[in-house]
Amino acid sequence: MLIVDIHAHMLPRDWPDLASRFGDARFPVIHHTDDGRHRIYRDGRFFREVWPNAWDAEARIADYARFGVDVQVISTVPVMFSYWAKGHHALELHKALNDHAAEVCRTHPRNYIGLATVPLQSPTLAIRELERCMDGLGLAGVQVGSHVNQWNLDAPELFEFFQACAELGAAVLVHPWDMMGTESMPRYWLPWLVGMPAEQSRAACSLIFGGVLERLPALRVCFAHGGGSFPYTIGRIEHGFRMRPDLVATDNPRNPREYLDRIWFDSCVHDDRALRYLLDVAGEGKVMLGTDYPFPLGEQEPGSHIRALGLPQEQQDSLFHGSALAWLGLDAGRFGAAAEQPA
Ligand code: CO
Repeated sequence: MLIVDIHAHMLPRDWPDLASRFGDARFPVIHHTDDGRHRIYRDGRFFREVWPNAWDAEARIADYARFGVDVQVISTVPVMFSYWAKGHHALELHKALNDHAAEVCRTHPRNYIGLATVPLQSPTLAIRELERCMDGLGLAGVQVGSHVNQWNLDAPELFEFFQACAELGAAVLVHPWDMMGTESMPRYWLPWLVGMPAEQSRAACSLIFGGVLERLPALRVCFAHGGGSFPYTIGRIEHGFRMRPDLVATDNPRNPREYLDRIWFDSCVHDDRALRYLLDVAGEGKVMLGTDYPFPLGEQEPGSHIRALGLPQEQQDSLFHGSALAWLGLDAGRFGAAAEQPA
């Protein structure tokens, strides 16, 4: 059976050193040291260690094939978004990342599908880069942060970008980043454990209440990390909509629950019961394997939670590839060969 993982991050081994070029230490830089370690720094501070499986396309294929995965839908690591920078500075980084993703997909067309990254702080540049990625580079969609500086995803400034996504047929992956509350909860990795789920709900509520999904019925959006807290608090969100329409329904009169069959979620919730609940809430064909490969907070055995549910074959097919192909707007035939390849 074809298995597609829609949430996997990839970096080039090296990228332009914009921190030096523009004299701004906030741009992420990577240092490779003689002892074989690879560390990303930002603001002059250590941010994260990475290993060659962040960029070695072939090693990754061998690694994920151990779990039966055939295809990774690759996106950059959110630290690279650089939405805080001047748009035309950040664009240089986005272009390098998109060129790299396209090269990986060209070299291994059966094993990788690419999502673009764009400088959303400058929507005009973002649209132009998205067009280049979709029409020129053959990427399948775009990854966006859960907010863009002071804009939530319903900001009027971003509407034309989402319109372009709908028109170009670009699948949109919403990924948490720049987590709310980071300053006030620095310990225990709380930005990742508490902030990330909240970021995803912020993004989903913004796209729904702001009327973006209503106005763009062709837009295909997936919320990573199982939609964060959104699916688990949809009852509360709907209740708020009913009880205080003066606060909640100001820009879109439609019940938020009605959008559940319009949006996709990945399966990365690390809990069998949560996954079962997500399947129930999201409905048929709206949940797909996503692992957050290759990071420690990702699913370490891709597909294990889906398999643990013991679902009927048809539903497993949907989780492992059917939903993903629908979200990506790709034909199963594209990977027919991959499905038959020996692992
Ligand atoms: Co991720």
